[in-house]
Amino acid sequence: MPALRSAFIALSRNRVLRNFCENSRIGTQLSARFIAGLEIADALRVAEALNRQELAVTLDSLGESVTSEADAHHAAEIYHQLLDLITARKLNAHISVKLTQLGLELSPALAESIALSLVRHAQATGNFVRIDMEDSNLTQVTLDIVRRVHAHSDARGSIGVVIQAYLYRSQADVEQLIADGIRIRLCKGAYKEPPEVAFPDKADVDSNFILLGCMLLDSSIHHALATHDEAMIAAINAYAQQHQIVPSSFEFQMLYGIKRDLQRKLVREGYNVRVYVPFGRDWYPYFMRRLAERPANILFLAKNYFRS
Ligand code: FDA
Repeated sequence: MPALRSAFIALSRNRVLRNFCENSRIGTQLSARFIAGLEIADALRVAEALNRQELAVTLDSLGESVTSEADAHHAAEIYHQLLDLITARKLNAHISVKLTQLGLELSPALAESIALSLVRHAQATGNFVRIDMEDSNLTQVTLDIVRRVHAHSDARGSIGVVIQAYLYRSQADVEQLIADGIRIRLCKGAYKEPPEVAFPDKADVDSNFILLGCMLLDSSIHHALATHDEAMIAAINAYAQQHQIVPSSFEFQMLYGIKRDLQRKLVREGYNVRVYVPFGRDWYPYFMRRLAERPANILFLAKNYFRS
């Protein structure tokens, strides 16, 4: 299985396959299980439907590693529109953004200034920007930018970040972010990382997820536990019950199209659940990471495709 995971992650960077998939009908049909659609209107429709089921949402306008300043500004423009549309339609929705989509690899200063303007807009409209975490080469620069943006009085509290339990450094990062009062989304981590920086064994990643998750619950900050793993969810809930931590003080997050029954079950049990809803034409790298997490998805998608 680790070999298949690596193969899908390597394929997620293949330009030829990406062009073919993103521009073919079969590619778009297969990805529909995990992607809300190609347009903003699709994302809003899905968000409304999820909100009706008492599921909160975070919207991801797909795209990463832009190669021009104009593309970085274009990506930001879509997020500014989303913030206004969320307010206008009274949606229970945040936005999730990747700094490489805002030009991080061209110029960290460019990404920081675009992120700051998004977070100021979010604060002015009572919203929130989550900065997704990408591969470990970008961890430090991402955390530095999040801290500097959070330090502005008109942005404080309206930006949060993601921590990946597979990285050895994450415990120290969690301690620092909690001290700074910054909201964290904890996940296991979706990129291929070398054993010098990340736990190679799933069991160690899972133990670290629980350790860090309990640290988040102990802080007085509203954090998010992003996982579909029922063992992780049970461990977090057991810790919360033992320590009289009320469910309203944290939230679970899951990806659109994955473990939908579990999402609804947790809501029925009184937990906050937020669904990460990706949309847009640049869906290929995101889609390939979902296949890497569970290679059996490819059979599942193929079966459904030929049945329809
Ligand atoms: P695990 O991989 O152990 O899966 C547990 C079970 O969940 C599986 O047995 C299967 O049943 C189901 N499952 C998991 N993934 C599935 C899939 N793709 N298809 C179908 N079933 C699946 N990562 C990152 O590096 N940076 C980030 O910013 C984010 N952001 C983020 C936001 C949110 C809301 C979520 C839920 C996840 C992320 N991730 C992420 C991805 C995360 O790091 C991780 O790769 C996936 O969540 C899979 O890990 P699980 O915790 O679900 O456990």
